[in-house]
Amino acid sequence: MAKAKASAFFCNECGYESAKWFGQCPACKAWNSAVEELVVKDSSGKKKPASAIEVVEPVTLADVSLEQEDRTSTQMEELDRVLGGGIVRGSLVLVGGDPGIGKSTLLLQMCRNLSMQHMKVLYISGEESAKQIKMRAERIGTFTEDLTILCETSLEHVENALRKYMPQVVIIDSIQTMYRTELDSAPGSVGQVRESTALLMQLAKTLGISIFVVGHVTKEGVVAGPRMLEHMVDTVLYFEGDRQASYRILRSVKNRFGSTNEIGVFEMRENGLNEVLNASEYMLQGRPENASGSVVACLIEGTRPILIEIQALVCRTNFSLPRRTAVGTDPNRVTLLMAVLEKRLGLRLSECDAYINIAGGIRITEPALDLGLVLAVLSNYKNVEISGKTIVFGEVGLSGEIRAVSQVENRISEAVKLGFERVILPKVCLEQTKRFRGKIELTPVENVSQLLNIL
Ligand code: TYD
Ligand code: MG
Repeated sequence: MAKAKASAFFCNECGYESAKWFGQCPACKAWNSAVEELVVKDSSGKKKPASAIEVVEPVTLADVSLEQEDRTSTQMEELDRVLGGGIVRGSLVLVGGDPGIGKSTLLLQMCRNLSMQHMKVLYISGEESAKQIKMRAERIGTFTEDLTILCETSLEHVENALRKYMPQVVIIDSIQTMYRTELDSAPGSVGQVRESTALLMQLAKTLGISIFVVGHVTKEGVVAGPRMLEHMVDTVLYFEGDRQASYRILRSVKNRFGSTNEIGVFEMRENGLNEVLNASEYMLQGRPENASGSVVACLIEGTRPILIEIQALVCRTNFSLPRRTAVGTDPNRVTLLMAVLEKRLGLRLSECDAYINIAGGIRITEPALDLGLVLAVLSNYKNVEISGKTIVFGEVGLSGEIRAVSQVENRISEAVKLGFERVILPKVCLEQTKRFRGKIELTPVENVSQLLNIL
């Protein structure tokens, strides 16, 4: 007997159903909106997507017990913080990032630490052979015998393995290689990736297993990327960094069990990823002492202040339209701030090219960076250096006013800790700096014209 077809194609836009794939939806005429989904029959025998099954038995809020979440430390401070204080039992975590950035390495190191605490860990790889994983493990260092590996791409087999061995933590590397036999589409397609994640979510919740899913960020193409799954999972972490540079940043963009915007900093070495506990020191390495156009700014990532160096190069242009290039921050913001300087201070910046670089390769868009950018541009334009022992933060408005930023104390503490001697900050923030009197020189500024006096 022929197997009843368990999947159908649905239009992403209007919900039109068809047994076959379609390029243009016959109902709403949208192109490329067909997505394969599993179907179930409801009581009336009507087919509907599996994702639309009704929930029965609502409960009142009062009946929901609030137990403390069961958390396990990964023994990596940076990773724990990004996860919101460790791995939560029964959670589904998505780890996204460009191919080759170090996702497998990070998770394998986490597995090692967990298995050393005698936890039952299963590393499922659809990309590498057991031998390749072993080779990577050898590189990273000592492993206990307990870590189990499974090389498998069929989710049916994965499900059986989970039910049989009941591990506490499972890694799926990567979601784009997993497939469900019920669906016709190829592994990595939107339908497969979505349905596979849905199954993993269900397993995580019903069996109480913490599952980490790796998702490669892909350029536009046939392979579905992790962005599409963000709404389904509990926590989304992105692993980013310049592949040429050795440092990597793990950033949480969604976390049902902790705060987002936390970052963890790692360095890729020949023996795996090393945690960078003092990110500021790391970011400021190799900074030129007292060079014009170099300014240290303080930004906040989650709860954590990080000092970074802004470099500006302003030189006479050879083009009718001056160039504005920014590496590590938003070029539009640089253009805007330079227009403010031109108008408010009467500088002839439109005759100059400007190049901005955030040293270390980190990407920042925080408004508190503005004052640093402005000062770096001014310093290089006027060829006046700013003492290397100064840090700067503040937002700049269109009228040239310097506006308040958040977490002032946090930022200054970091500067004091690293031996800085002077802070240039918005005047409105001065209220919050009482406890730093005498420890560090405070220079409040109200508008950009006061910066000229400082120079
Ligand atoms: P990997 O974890 O395989 O990346 P992903 O799973 O995100 O695709 O990382 C691969 C890169 O990391 C590779 O270019 C080699 C480098 N690497 C090191 O530099 N040191 C090491 O100890 C390891 C294991 C990898
Ligand atoms: Mg990998």
